[in-house]
Amino acid sequence: MSNFLDTKKRLPNLGIGLGLRRELASQTLESKNRIDWLELVPENYMGLGGACRERLESVREKFPLVTHGINLSIGSTDDLNDEYLRKLKELLNFIDAPWFSDHLCFTSCDGIYMHDLLPLPRCREAIDLIAEKVKRVQGVIERPFLLENISYYMNVPGSQMNDAQFLAEVIEKADCGLLLDINNVYVNSLNHSFDPYQYLDQIPLERTVQIHVAGHKQGSQYVIDTHGAAVVEPVFELLQYVLERIDANGVMLERDQNFPDFNEILDEVDRIRQISEASAKVKQAGIAPKTASALRQFERKQSTVGRKELAEVKHARVLSA
Ligand SMILES: [Fe+2]
Repeated sequence: MSNFLDTKKRLPNLGIGLGLRRELASQTLESKNRIDWLELVPENYMGLGGACRERLESVREKFPLVTHGINLSIGSTDDLNDEYLRKLKELLNFIDAPWFSDHLCFTSCDGIYMHDLLPLPRCREAIDLIAEKVKRVQGVIERPFLLENISYYMNVPGSQMNDAQFLAEVIEKADCGLLLDINNVYVNSLNHSFDPYQYLDQIPLERTVQIHVAGHKQGSQYVIDTHGAAVVEPVFELLQYVLERIDANGVMLERDQNFPDFNEILDEVDRIRQISEASAKVKQAGIAPKTASALRQFERKQSTVGRKELAEVKHARVLSA
C-alpha cells in the first residue's frame, strides 16, 4: 500500500494558482480575488535577504505557497547536496508549504550546475537511483514531495522504455507524488510523435497533486516549452481530460517571459478555474468521463489542431535539414 496516496488524501485543495515571478509580483499581490495560491522557485529565495525576503514576506501574508525547485538534480549520479536541502527545508518551514516539487531530470554533473533540465536515460539503474534519492529527500525535508515530467528534445541513449513508463515506474518506486505538466506532455507529443491521451492513460494519474498549464512556441526544428505564450486549446482539453478523472490539489498557470497585459494572465487563470469547476461537476454527478460520442468528437477536434501543429513542426524540420 502506498503511503503517498494516504498522504495525498490529507493534503489541502489549494485551488487555482500562478507561478510567482518578480516582474508580475505587485500585480499578483493585488489579485488575491482571482488567484488562490502561488508557486515560487526556491532558489530565488533560499537564504536570501533584501528585496527577495521582503517579497517573500508579503506574498506569505496573502497566499498559500509551495515551491518548485530546479537544482535538486534528483537524476544526477552526484550525491544529494546537504547544504541545498538544509536551505530548502528552512524555506519550506518558513512558508509552511503543504508540499514541494522538482523535476524528473538532472541539472548537475560532478558538482557543476548546468542551468538546464536535462533528460535521463530511461533505464532500471536510473529508476533505482532516483527512487532511493527521493526517499532520502522526503526523509530530510519531512513534507510531501512531487516530481514533474519535463519537456525533452532528445531520447537519451541507453533508454529501455518510453517516457510515460519511466515516469510511472519512478514515482511508484519512490512512492512520491506527481506534478503533471500538461503542456510538457503536449509539447513532447508533438516533438516525439505520440498520442498525449495515451501517455496520460499510462501514468498513475491518481498520484497527481499539482498540475502545470503553460504556453509554448514553434521553434525552427521543435516545439519549444517557453512558458512565454498563451495556452493553446489542446492543452486546455488535456487538462479537462485529466480533471474529469482525478482530483488534483492545485492547478496553476506558468508564465515566465514575454509577459502580456496582466489581465490576459488572469483570464487564463479564470479559464483554468472554469475547467476545474466543470470537471468537478462531472465527477460529482458520477458521469463517466466523456461519453463515447463526446470523446470521439473531442478527439477529432484535438487531432485536427494537433495534426496542424505537428505538420508545421515536420515542415520546419524539413526546411532546416
Ligand atoms: Fe512545469
